[in-house]
Parts: sequence; C-alpha cells; structure tokens
Amino acid sequence: MATQRSNKPIGSRLAARDGFTSGLGVLLATLGSAVGLGNIWKFPSLTGTNGGAAFIIVYLISTLLVGLPVMIAEHVMGRTARADAITTLRKLAPGKLWWLVGAAGVLASFLIMAFYTEVAGWVFAYIVKAVTGGILSTDPAVTGQAFADLIASPSQSLLWQWIVLAWVGLIIALGVSKGIERVTKRLMPILLGLLVIICIRSLTLPGAAEGLKFLFNPDFTKLTGPVVLAAMGLSFFKLSVGMGTMITYGSYFREDQNIPATAARVMLADLTVSILAGIAIFPAVFSYGFEPGAGPSLLFITIPSVFASMPLGQVFMIMFFILTAIAATGAMLSLLEVPVAFLNEKLRLPRVTATIVTVVLLALVGSTAALSSSTLASTKVLGKTFFDLFDFATSNVLLPVGGFFITLFVGWVWGKAQVMNALTNQGALKNERIVNLFIGVCKFVTPVLVFIVLLNGLGLF
Ligand code: PFF
Repeated sequence: MATQRSNKPIGSRLAARDGFTSGLGVLLATLGSAVGLGNIWKFPSLTGTNGGAAFIIVYLISTLLVGLPVMIAEHVMGRTARADAITTLRKLAPGKLWWLVGAAGVLASFLIMAFYTEVAGWVFAYIVKAVTGGILSTDPAVTGQAFADLIASPSQSLLWQWIVLAWVGLIIALGVSKGIERVTKRLMPILLGLLVIICIRSLTLPGAAEGLKFLFNPDFTKLTGPVVLAAMGLSFFKLSVGMGTMITYGSYFREDQNIPATAARVMLADLTVSILAGIAIFPAVFSYGFEPGAGPSLLFITIPSVFASMPLGQVFMIMFFILTAIAATGAMLSLLEVPVAFLNEKLRLPRVTATIVTVVLLALVGSTAALSSSTLASTKVLGKTFFDLFDFATSNVLLPVGGFFITLFVGWVWGKAQVMNALTNQGALKNERIVNLFIGVCKFVTPVLVFIVLLNGLGLF
C-alpha cells in the first residue's frame, strides 16, 4: 500500500476534485466506514450464539466470497470514473440503464442514515447519561427504564438525532480531505485505544474465561443454513457495500492506491475490531452474571449495568460509549457523503449547500424513524414501523440488489481488460493473478451467493 504523504492529491484527473491525500487516510476513512454499530451489537452476539470460532470461520469465508469482492468492485469503479455513485455508472456504461444501480445506492444510503442516526443519537445521549450517572445502575430493570424513557420521548429522540446530523453534517461540509480524512485519521486511533483498554479491563475480571468460552468455543453443529446466510448478509452490512458508499470513497482514492490490498486490510482490521468488541463485552457480561443479549438491549440496557457493577465502572462506561459514538460517526460520514457527492457534482450545488439540503431532508425523513417508538409507534407500513421498514428495505433488499448488479457489472459487462488495467494500476502492481481470481469470483460466485442472500432476506428461501 502506498503510504507516501503529500498535501496535494496526485494525478491530473484528481486535480479539480477533492480526495484523500495519503494511503493511510484512505485506509482509516474506509475502515471508519466499515467499523460501526455492526461491530458492537451485531457481530459479537451473532458469533456467541452461532458457534463461536466456527461462526468466525464461516464469516471469514463469506466475507472473502461476498463482502470483499463487492468492496474491490466498488472501489475500482469509483476510482476509474472519479465521480459520485450515479455518474460513475453513467460514465462506465454510457447510454445504458446501469446508472439505476447508483441511484439505488443513493437511496439506500439516505434510508440507512434515516434510522442509523437515531441509534447513534441514543449512543450520544448515553455518553451524557454515563457522565451524569443517569444509567449508573447494576439493575437492568433500572437501565431498561432509562432506555424506555429515552426512546418514548419524542423531543429527546428528535433532539439527539438532530445533534448527530449536525455533527456529521459539519464534518462532511468541510470536504473529503479536510473533513472526512482529517477526522477519521484522528478518531480511529482513539477508538482502537479505548477498545484495547476496555478489553484489558474485561479480561482481568474474575470469571472472564466464561465470556471467552461463549465467544470463541467452536461448535460446528450450530452452523445451519440460516446461520451461513446470516454470516453472508452480515458481511455486506459490515463492509458497507452494495450501495455506492465504496464507489464514492473509491472516487477519492489516489491513483497509486493498491485497491485489492487496501480492501483486504480493511476487511481484516474490521474483523479485528469486531472480535475485540466481543472481548470487551462478553467476559464482563459473564463475570457479573448478566444475560448475553443482542441489539439494542445488549448495548443500552445490559452493558450499562455491567459497567456499573465494576470498580471505576463509570469511567469505563464513558469510554465505551465514546468509542461506540466514534464507530457510528465513521460509518455515518460515508453514508452522508453518497447523497452529498451526488448533489454537489451532478446537480452542481456548492458542497455546503448540498450538505445542508441532505441534512434537512434527513431530519424530515429520519424523524419518522426517530418517532417510531413514541408518536408513530402504531403507524405501520407493510406491518413495520418506519424504523424497521428502513432497516428492512436497506439491509434485506437494496444492499443485496446493489451488490448483485455491481459484481455482475464488473464480472460480465465492464470488460476484463479494463478491470485488469484499473486494478493493476496500469500494470504497475504485479497482482495479475489476484485480479484474475477476483474477476472469476465476480463472474461466477458472488452474484449467485448474493442472490441467495436476497431471496432469504425477502423470506423466499
Ligand atoms: N458498516 C457499518 C456497520 O457495521 O455498522 C454500517 C454501514 C455503514 C452500512 C455504511 C452501510 C454503509 F454504507
């Protein structure tokens, strides 16, 4: 990977566009996108309940065959076209309907933001509650009540979502190099540092081994069809692929960035963060005899009680929610960048205006998700609250559909010579064998697997 630093983006095609200025910046921003709430409330509990180390092996294989190829495909498309997600497909397939894949990506990132900002809002609110001691109780009934009060309050829900939108909007408005790159370069090391500190604390608690057993003990009998499908679906959401995020970030990559190596590093680093998150959480959960749940109840009810049980627990609790807020921030920056890049480049709105327009629209649409546990709790579309609807439409439908068409495009439509040329950096990298393997996987493996994930997500398989 190139680690050469420079203040100006290299390559004449980049001259007029903002972009990442260093190899490290690319790596941390892309990792920032992948690392998110998925690492903290999805991966560890899925691993613990579905076969431990056996699940991790299946996840790794799924990622190699599903998440990673889509990530490489998106990066190389974006870097070749140097444009937002829709324009990228218009440029690579002029006069064809492939741009619809980019349009689905812009829609998907907007809809993910609509509910992800609400969960991030709860995390931000919890930093404050951790500081003021509002969730400092060893009784899950008390922390559960604090969480119920938060989500049942329309004003609190909207306020925290708006705070989150203002925070990520501000960074995005600053631009790619001065905003996204600068902030992720500072925040990602802090996230890793906090995670390691909490891991050490958790591992040194009495009875920690029980949690490690829960997390890692390999149980191959748990690897049923649905578990394998869940691992494949997770590899999508985890690596932020299938929806233009990585096309947009790829469009800011340097010309000399080694794309397959960067994507592989991001994948491995993201997996490491997920495993560390599991080590930070489960030994402590078991040490104090709590139930290892998943999703919101693990993050907002069990974890505060676990921290409240340990000496100096308040300090670790504050650290934990700060690291979770950082993880969510990197993911949201990449999501927000997709529609902002589109409005900025395609509709020629100045970047600040594009950001304000997107943030205001998100505040409006996102409010339906924010109010899904209060004012709009009984308003259902297709039997789901807006929050659940946005989650379902993106995770189960739009992301797999996007990933399916992206790999089909790269495998069958774009042209082998073009893909080879772009991924070898015009022959400068001696990675032809890896690129050949990648093209083969994009042709024959990934689309088939993604199609199965899609049918499963729709309840048809
Ligand atoms: N990868 C993020 C996580 O694991 O939480 C979620 C995500 C971010 C999905 C960005 C999609 C995306 F474009």
